[in-house]
Amino acid sequence: MALSRRTFSALAGSAALGLALGGSGGPGAPSAYAARSVPTGPAPAPPSADGRPHTIGYDRYSLLVDGRRLVVWSGEMHPFRLPSPSLWRDVLQKMRAHGFNAVSIYVAWNYHSPAPGTYDFTGVRDLDLFLRTAAETGLYVILRPGPYINAEVDGGGFPGWLTAAKGTARTDDPAYLAHVDEWLTQVNLIARRHQFTQGTGTVLLYQIENEYDAHPGDATGRAYMAHLYKKVRADGIDVPLFHNDKGRNGYWTPGSFDTGGEKGGWLYGFDGYPSPSQTPPDWGTFGPGGAKGGASASPSTPGFVPEFGGGWFDPWGGAWFDGKGYAEARRTRDAAYERRFYLTNLANGLTLHNVYMTFGGTSWGWLPAPVVYTSYDYGAAIDEARNVTDKIAPLHQLGHLLQRVPDFAKLDRAADVHAEGLKVYHLANPDTGAHVYVARNDGADAVTADLPTDAGRVRITVPGRDARLLTTGLKLGARTLKYATAEPVMCVTAARQDIAVFSGRHGDMAELVLKCPVGPNVMRLDPEAAWVLDDDSLHVNVPLGQGGLTRVLVQKGETDTPLLLLFADDATAVRLFPYDTPSGTLLVYGPALLRHAEVRGNEVHLTGDVTETTSIEVWGPRGTDTLVWNGRTLPTRVTLSGSLMTTGLLPAVPEVRLPELGGWRMRTENPEAGPSFDDSHWTVAYRTTSFSTTPVPDGQPVLFADDYGFHYGDVWYRGSFTDATGLEEVSLAYSTGTQGLLMAWLDGEPLGTHRMPVPDRTTTIRKGTWADTAVFPIRAALRSPGRHVLSVLVRRMQHDEDGRALDTHKAARGLTAASFKGGSPKVSWRIQGAAAPDPVRGPMNNGGLYGEREGWHLPDFPDHDWEKASFPRAARYQGVTWYRTTFRLSVPADIDASVGLTLQDDPYRAYRAQIFLNGWNLGQYINNVGPQHTFVLPNGILRTRGANTLALAVLSEFTTLSGPGSVRLTLLGRATGGLPVTPV
Ligand code: GAL
Repeated sequence: MALSRRTFSALAGSAALGLALGGSGGPGAPSAYAARSVPTGPAPAPPSADGRPHTIGYDRYSLLVDGRRLVVWSGEMHPFRLPSPSLWRDVLQKMRAHGFNAVSIYVAWNYHSPAPGTYDFTGVRDLDLFLRTAAETGLYVILRPGPYINAEVDGGGFPGWLTAAKGTARTDDPAYLAHVDEWLTQVNLIARRHQFTQGTGTVLLYQIENEYDAHPGDATGRAYMAHLYKKVRADGIDVPLFHNDKGRNGYWTPGSFDTGGEKGGWLYGFDGYPSPSQTPPDWGTFGPGGAKGGASASPSTPGFVPEFGGGWFDPWGGAWFDGKGYAEARRTRDAAYERRFYLTNLANGLTLHNVYMTFGGTSWGWLPAPVVYTSYDYGAAIDEARNVTDKIAPLHQLGHLLQRVPDFAKLDRAADVHAEGLKVYHLANPDTGAHVYVARNDGADAVTADLPTDAGRVRITVPGRDARLLTTGLKLGARTLKYATAEPVMCVTAARQDIAVFSGRHGDMAELVLKCPVGPNVMRLDPEAAWVLDDDSLHVNVPLGQGGLTRVLVQKGETDTPLLLLFADDATAVRLFPYDTPSGTLLVYGPALLRHAEVRGNEVHLTGDVTETTSIEVWGPRGTDTLVWNGRTLPTRVTLSGSLMTTGLLPAVPEVRLPELGGWRMRTENPEAGPSFDDSHWTVAYRTTSFSTTPVPDGQPVLFADDYGFHYGDVWYRGSFTDATGLEEVSLAYSTGTQGLLMAWLDGEPLGTHRMPVPDRTTTIRKGTWADTAVFPIRAALRSPGRHVLSVLVRRMQHDEDGRALDTHKAARGLTAASFKGGSPKVSWRIQGAAAPDPVRGPMNNGGLYGEREGWHLPDFPDHDWEKASFPRAARYQGVTWYRTTFRLSVPADIDASVGLTLQDDPYRAYRAQIFLNGWNLGQYINNVGPQHTFVLPNGILRTRGANTLALAVLSEFTTLSGPGSVRLTLLGRATGGLPVTPV
């Protein structure tokens, strides 16, 4: 193709020379297209509780909301993993700003139900508030209330009390279903008030059960799923329901169980967590097909992946990530991982996509399942401290693209094309004629190759283990793209022009060719761009990221609507935020985050965050000439590209100073170990039968904590017996979650500590139930006649999940049996776990340590008579020692500081600490196991402007010295802006 140069914008070593315009035509016309009943058009506006009824339909391509195609680009977060409702809005706003149009949440039954018939949806459990906040943020909600959820939470979401109840879970057992119905009734009372169909909220889809693969085809499974389906419908839920198939099994496709006639619809979805070392799988259009072929298992519903890995979890000891924790998860599942895998999904026709997790959060208190420790950061795009990480770039780019460029909602496979060294997917939109190419490099080294597109050969480079998205024939407002090697991010109409954004990796040479049948006026507004016009096209070349954003303005020609082309590298693109207001769409460039935008007359009011020195630039609706940022009017000028740009720079976020922790006071406890402790009010272990899956030992009472109503945290046992004369040894069998531990005393004398091994990568990592027997010798001095008391403390950790529907959440927790060598005294046992559940913090906040029962963790507990202490400490003690201190913070109101608590010590020392901030149990630190050393202290629980009380309940063994070593506050993130935070 010859270039007839009418105009040329010179730049050193003209990038135009890099143009690779291959032969015209392409690999041939794509094959026949399907029926076109729903033409491609603009996606629906962001949702809200707008008071109007809506329809949610679908065809094989996508959802159809009010008859218009919607690609769902959703991120998973769990309200129960962020115990500060004000921060829900923060995370949701970050998700929305970075391209998500939906949030997917589990609702954990155990989090809301301390006892049968008792349900709590207040405070940090306020589901109604969460759903309102999501609607106000403009996000659809995918609601997943189980009843089983898995999710790496205690019992997979089953309440503690269900572990001691009759009935086989996850089946059609009526005893179990009666409990399930009670739960669903409660959730659905709230959910039904927020359905998008009713215009009263944004709940778009609703999942029943979770990865249910135990009874796929049999009568039990079908009856169970039918029951759930009908119950949810009977409760007034009329949005489409779905289930997440655990693999690409084709389980629970439409028609696989009785839905009693489908009102509202049933979608098929399947989950996927491919490892980063794997070749991204074809689970749709390009897959092997057949009933077990992922999306093709359900040809009449759109490709739907309710969970696709956005990171992964990590067990105690950190075996998945070599002890390096979630930073390593983020490194191995980085932005390039996301591009490779998520683009492959899009190429495979998946138009409902949910990234699990997008914000992982914290499994605080006794919430974590045995397979994880406190942090559930997950290596997600938004980290546990609410910082947006580099992983956001592809999510931001693809999310905005899918929402704002309708061509992607309806793609058919088109003729195969090949490019040397790359795996290429070719798709086309039958209505618009746009072609989409995903070029993936599965090798380690960068590949440069010619890609034969329908607009000619295009030379592209794809870095090793990365992918690139290319488009041809895309409408950019009033004009049409011929092709671009940079990835399209969005196209909006703002400031009286069309604005199209393209991005790529830092340092890429972006090449864009625009169809221009009538020669336009072209103006480069930033010096990096080079352009040239030939007969019918404009060629633009831009090295990405050299000066931040690069702007090229195309005016006149075949249309009077100007087109502003914006080029950005990844770091720049994530600072470009489109926002729809009733007065029109805005595009904002510069800040770290745009939370909200509003047009009031001639003023554009924006709120958001700034982290680094920046200007702010806004392309706003007609007639706006004033910029108000976080309530302050900023001086601006009007630029050649039609934007309002601040004349000065906003300063970077200032330093935030955190105080040293000092003034500690300490007190040891465990009076329960002593022979004269009064346990008369403790529960007698009287039961002889149990619904547990753990057998009750012959001739002994049931000792399982759950059978006596103690479902979370530590449990104490005191066994009294007469005559220890011949006793040589005591054997204590116990059963726990991962990292369980038992310690025992006879008449107040320590017998020793036994703990479960650290899970390793190969065999034990997934083992949720740990059962072992601690054998302690009895010293001669203790072998006397008369009354004796055996005291046992069990850190029982959490209930197993029930992923395989085998009732494994019912495995016993606590002591299971006791026997002696040298005699067989009859022991009468009493048991004590947590006191009555904390009415605000909930049942998972506390276990049964003496200090917890007495309120030593609470902020107003009087500790002035406790002994003074300072760290590092090195003491030898079997049992529990508490440390308390207070500290004040005075973070300026306009700074969002994210603060953590970091504990460090000699890893040889065998001790643990439960961390209580203002009474809230924010996690467990195990010094000799790890890998977690820093614990996020969420604002709202943390008073960033006021006084805080920190309490550490340290459980130490006698075998080593015990700390704490160093305990300090750590700044995990900071931004100027933030949101007002209501104290929890
Ligand atoms: C899925 C499950 C989720 C979660 C995830 C791993 O299989 O549905 O609940 O457990 O795995 O993080």
